[in-house]
Amino acid sequence: MCGIIGYIGGNDVGDILLKGLSRLEYRGYDSAGIVLIEEDGRFDVIKKEGRLYNLVGPVHDRAIKGCVGVGHTRWATHGRPSDVNSHPHGDASGSVWLVHNGIIENYRELSQSLVKKGHRFLSETDSEIIAHLIGDEFSKGEVSLHEAVRRVVSSVRGSYALGIVHRDFPDRIIAARHGSPLIIGIGENENYIASDVPAIMDRTRKVIYLEDGEVAIVKKDSVKVFDLNGNPVNKVPCEVNWSIEEAEKGGYEKFMLKEIFEQPKAVENTIIDRIGPKGKTVTFDDMEFYPQQARKLRRIYIVSCGTAFYAGYTGKYILERLTSIPVEIELASEFRYSDPKLQSDSLVIAVSQSGETADTLASLRMARENGCKVLSIVNVVGSTISRESDWVLYTYAGPEIGVASTKAYVTQLTAFYLFAIYLGEMRGDISSGFASGILDELKNIPGKISKILEHEADIRKCAKSFYKAESALYIGRNFNYPNAMEGALKIKEISYMHAEGYAAGEMKHGPIALIEDNYPVICICTKGKTYEKMISNIREVEARNGQVIAIANNGDSIVREIAHNVIEVPEAMEELSPLLNVVPLQLLAYYVACERGCDIDKPRNLAKSVTVE
Ligand code: M6R
Repeated sequence: MCGIIGYIGGNDVGDILLKGLSRLEYRGYDSAGIVLIEEDGRFDVIKKEGRLYNLVGPVHDRAIKGCVGVGHTRWATHGRPSDVNSHPHGDASGSVWLVHNGIIENYRELSQSLVKKGHRFLSETDSEIIAHLIGDEFSKGEVSLHEAVRRVVSSVRGSYALGIVHRDFPDRIIAARHGSPLIIGIGENENYIASDVPAIMDRTRKVIYLEDGEVAIVKKDSVKVFDLNGNPVNKVPCEVNWSIEEAEKGGYEKFMLKEIFEQPKAVENTIIDRIGPKGKTVTFDDMEFYPQQARKLRRIYIVSCGTAFYAGYTGKYILERLTSIPVEIELASEFRYSDPKLQSDSLVIAVSQSGETADTLASLRMARENGCKVLSIVNVVGSTISRESDWVLYTYAGPEIGVASTKAYVTQLTAFYLFAIYLGEMRGDISSGFASGILDELKNIPGKISKILEHEADIRKCAKSFYKAESALYIGRNFNYPNAMEGALKIKEISYMHAEGYAAGEMKHGPIALIEDNYPVICICTKGKTYEKMISNIREVEARNGQVIAIANNGDSIVREIAHNVIEVPEAMEELSPLLNVVPLQLLAYYVACERGCDIDKPRNLAKSVTVE
């Protein structure tokens, strides 16, 4: 997630910005930059791909000291990581400079009017458009800088936190926020802006939290905040009394919990911009996968590891439901040593959060050597897998810091729905009515996930009922079979409780032997074509005195009657139910691990990214 810092005051601006950016590193980034402005209007922009230390030398060697500046750590979404795509971005005249966190949905539309006026853009980012728009508005000479910002942000769709400086106005920073966090830090004859509290905690603990739709003028000795209609808003600073570590997690105990709660936004960001104007089609502006390519496909192989493998497994069910293409799901560590009969009309889909997993990368290379095209579903922009793929469908989960993958998983599933609808429509495999029904439901998913998260306390209570168990069984069918495996993986990796994820229909072929008094069985039993079958499985567990923890739809009295514990989730189309049902599984794993006193964000023996075999 991008990080923003801004400073105005009498101290060394470059140094303060670098320190602030280093405190934002935990958010994840691939490039960084700063702009500083001197009182006489001279300015310096230093921005580089890679780690923050790349900026240190140039910032210390610079000719000017500056009295105001803004800095940024970038986590690429639009445009790969590079010096030129790094922030700050300037307007056409090089007067306005800004840093941005968020995604501008209508940036293509907005850029068209600028292109007609002769504007040329240096970067591939959505953010640069905002700098040009502000410069354009301000250059008309009718309005103040903050009024120009207010006008521009009123025309923007999407999310933004913005820090803006102008070389002719070195006495101010303009800050604006909608959907992405931004705070103002209050100092003694100096003030700050930042994405979050840790960036400025060593300098001040007095902060103003900007709300959506607010624009602020931050000077060294004053802060004025306005709403989008230009009316002044009275803001009272609050005192922060958290530790730096607590602040980085935004008030959550662990990164994993924070990331679980970020899922509604992550899904929203992944579908944003990809659903056509009437909500009936999928468009990939960022991926040129043409209809003729969709039509000629005869087979799909999905390769991945760990959680990404289970996302791929669900992807198989999704693709086979929405298209006529047969799909094979393969563990990358096996695929790379197997003899798949790859042909030029096969497509290999590599799924990876990090884009760096060694086995997935090796599988991708093998597929390409055998004449196959590769599409990757990746979270980290510019990662090796994304660079070596023929097409990339990015998930916009933002950086995932907890070792246990959560928001990456739901966005990988989301990407599969989008791609399957796209293929299904292109090939004439599904009707547009069916496609738009799924898309409508997909748009409702973030709200439904939020509803589940509201019942976090009940899920915690449920975790307490079985956290002492030595082992647990997770069962599901059809679309929710991979979810059962994912639920079991989650609890295994962070709580060290042994768990098995099984297709419920396989129970009688072995695992039912495990069930004895109070043995926990987590049953995914939401409405769909295998619902009755799942009810029978629950009865089988109950008959052997197992402890049934069921994930069921709101108000399901049948399940409530037979299960010991029920975690309710909103109803959804069966095809989309994995997106909801996995959320309680993540929270169950999280709270079992809490009860067992485990180091949740850094489980033993595990690394976030497995870049060796
Ligand atoms: O970065 P990737 O998605 O390629 O990583 C794949 C697995 O290593 C990863 O999903 C792992 O299983 C997670 N720790 C699961 O929570």
